[in-house]
Amino acid sequence: MESAVVEEDTGSFPNLEYKAAHKAFRDRWKETDETMCRHSMSFHLHHSLRSEFFASYLYLMEKTPVVKLFPVTCEIIKGEKQFYYRSQKFYEDVPASEEGMLGDFVEICNVDLEASREFLKRFVGPGKAGTQCALDCGSGIGRVSKGVLLPVFEKMELVDMMEHFLLYAHEEYLGDDADRIETYYCYNLQDFTPPKNKYDVIWMQWGHVSHLTDKDLMNFLMRCKKSLHPNGVIIIKDNMARQGCKLDPIDSSISRHLDIMKCIIGKAGLEVLAVEKQEGFPDIIMPVWMIAMK
Ligand SMILES: C[S@@+](CC[C@H](N)C(=O)[O-])C[C@H]1O[C@@H](n2cnc3c(N)ncnc32)[C@H](O)[C@@H]1O
Repeated sequence: MESAVVEEDTGSFPNLEYKAAHKAFRDRWKETDETMCRHSMSFHLHHSLRSEFFASYLYLMEKTPVVKLFPVTCEIIKGEKQFYYRSQKFYEDVPASEEGMLGDFVEICNVDLEASREFLKRFVGPGKAGTQCALDCGSGIGRVSKGVLLPVFEKMELVDMMEHFLLYAHEEYLGDDADRIETYYCYNLQDFTPPKNKYDVIWMQWGHVSHLTDKDLMNFLMRCKKSLHPNGVIIIKDNMARQGCKLDPIDSSISRHLDIMKCIIGKAGLEVLAVEKQEGFPDIIMPVWMIAMK
C-alpha cells in the first residue's frame, strides 16, 4: 500500500512477498555454496557481497551475474573500493548547480522542497526536536539546506565528498545564509564521524544513502544516532525501488525497496517514527519516500 502518509508499525518486518523471495533465494544460494562453489572464486565473491550488501544481497544476486556484480560492488583496486571510486568519478563531472543536483528533473525542485518542509514540521517544536543545529548529509550545493533547513535551524553544517559543490554553496548559492553555516565537511560519508550530541535534525537526501553499501550505510546511521541531541531525528529522503533493489553501475547507486531500507535502519538500532511518500512527481521517476527515525 502506497498511501500518502503511513505511520510506522514499529518492529514490522518486510512483507510476506519479500520474505518469500528471500527464502527462495537463500535456499538456492545455500545449495550453491555447498555443492558447486565451495572451492571456487565465486564462493569468495559471494561472501564479500553478502557481507557488504547483507540486506540487498539476494536481490543483487538475482539480477546481475556475479562476474559483473563483483567489480561494481566489492572489488578493490590499489586499495580503492571500486563502488566508491565510480561515484567519485561520476560527481567530478557534475556541475555545481540545481540542474546538476537534480539531473533531468529540475522542475520537481519546488514540489520536493515543499513536501520536505511539511514533513519536517512533524518532528520539530516543543517536546520534539529543537531548532539549534542541523546537518545536511550529501548536501551537494546546499539545495535542501537553503529550501528546507536554514529557514528552521539557527545553525547548520554541510557534508559532501565534492569540494566544488561545497565551495559553490558557500560562495554563491546560500547567499547571506552562508554566515550561519558553522562547518563544511568535505568527506566521504563512509569515513565521516559526525560530532557527538550536536544535531537536532540530520537530513539525508538523494545523496550518499544510495551511494553507500548496506554495511557502510548501517554503520553511518549508527554514528549519526550518537550525534543527535536527545529529541533529535534523522530523516532520509531518497528513491526507493518498486521491488527489491536496483543497481546503477554508472554512478554506483543502489535504490532499495522501502522494506530493505527499514531492515538496514533497524539493524543500525534506530526506530522508524514515520514514513511518507512524496506525491506530485512525474510517474517515470522512481518512488521517493521520506523516513523519519530516532
Ligand atoms: C544528487 S546530489 C543531491 C544533493 C542534495 N542532497 C540535493 O538533494 O540537492 C548527490 C550528492 O551526494 C554526494 N555524495 C554521493 N556519494 C557520497 C559519499 N559517499 N559521501 C559523501 N557525499 C556523497 C554527491 O557528491 C552529491 O553532492
